[in-house]
Amino acid sequence: MRSLISILDFSVAELDQLIATAKDIIANPDNYREKCRYKKLATLFFEPSTRTRLSFEAAMLELGGSVIGFSEASSSSASKGESMADTAKILSCYADIMAIRHPKEGAPYVASRNATIPVINAGDGGHQHPTQTLADLLTISREKGRLNDLTIGLCGDLKYGRTVHSLIEAMSRYEGIRFVLISPAELKLPSYVRFNVLEKHHIPYTEVTSLEDAMPELDVLYMTRIQQERFDDVEEYNRLKDSYVLDTEKMQLGKADMCVLHPLPRVNEISVAVDDDPRAAYFRQALNGKYMRMALILKLLEEAQNPAREAIDTEGLVYDRVCKNPKCICQVEQELPQIARITDPAENILRCIYCEQKV
Ligand code: CP
Repeated sequence: MRSLISILDFSVAELDQLIATAKDIIANPDNYREKCRYKKLATLFFEPSTRTRLSFEAAMLELGGSVIGFSEASSSSASKGESMADTAKILSCYADIMAIRHPKEGAPYVASRNATIPVINAGDGGHQHPTQTLADLLTISREKGRLNDLTIGLCGDLKYGRTVHSLIEAMSRYEGIRFVLISPAELKLPSYVRFNVLEKHHIPYTEVTSLEDAMPELDVLYMTRIQQERFDDVEEYNRLKDSYVLDTEKMQLGKADMCVLHPLPRVNEISVAVDDDPRAAYFRQALNGKYMRMALILKLLEEAQNPAREAIDTEGLVYDRVCKNPKCICQVEQELPQIARITDPAENILRCIYCEQKV
């Protein structure tokens, strides 16, 4: 069964096809109004959300389908201790496709291994957020007219910013992409993204701390929120939360055709005055998210007609290696097998299959 857990689950050709479908939906919405008639989307949100959950629901409704689900863990039987695996099996009885947001890294992956319907990762802790990346790709394509030959600045919380991790994985597969990673030292990109994606594929990047210095060279500026909910130490959060504020003065340093993206919600990292700048694309980006989720639902439901169960890729798997990441789903669901994968044979680096942290 085809699911979307990581943006790498889709080839570049498939991403380009999703973008083409989304653009066709925008141009010809009437052609899609009945496409999902009698189909049900389940939205399982164990963490708060405005855009992702409601754009998924709007997407399914605009395709003629219907929606079931919950918006907080406390109103599901997870609050009584039900496992992710069992929850996925149950929802497979009631819906045709499900979207899951969960605070634990790897939870949607566990669901996909146990469901008999497509599973979409709608954000798992600080790990990945592939459908936000779909929204980002359509936005860059519409704003810039291309997805290649771009200098992309990523600013803020690059450590826990799951949208950043997924976007780097996606954009690294297009030609002529260069990244400027703008963050405080404490919130630098995790090693599994830096080494497994940027270094491994020889993608040019620089790591800097000054947003002002980086501004003039950027084609795309991707701002992120410093996320209080990801910090174990509130003092560290308070020290870092105002690291970057994009204001109209800093916007003057940017190219005339730069575009500013932000997955939202924002707190104060983009001043409200910037919203009036035509280069501010973040509200258009939120709308694009609905169109890309429509395209994604269509693709996964179409592929579910041919329900060949994909075998787990067993290459490089090592069993009984214990993951110590406290944010990993395997820390709360003790029955999950402890499995790691050798991601860099030269260095013999093993990473947990759920959260991708070193074990
Ligand atoms: N961008 C995003 O994931 O927003 P929500 O948390 O509101 O879904």
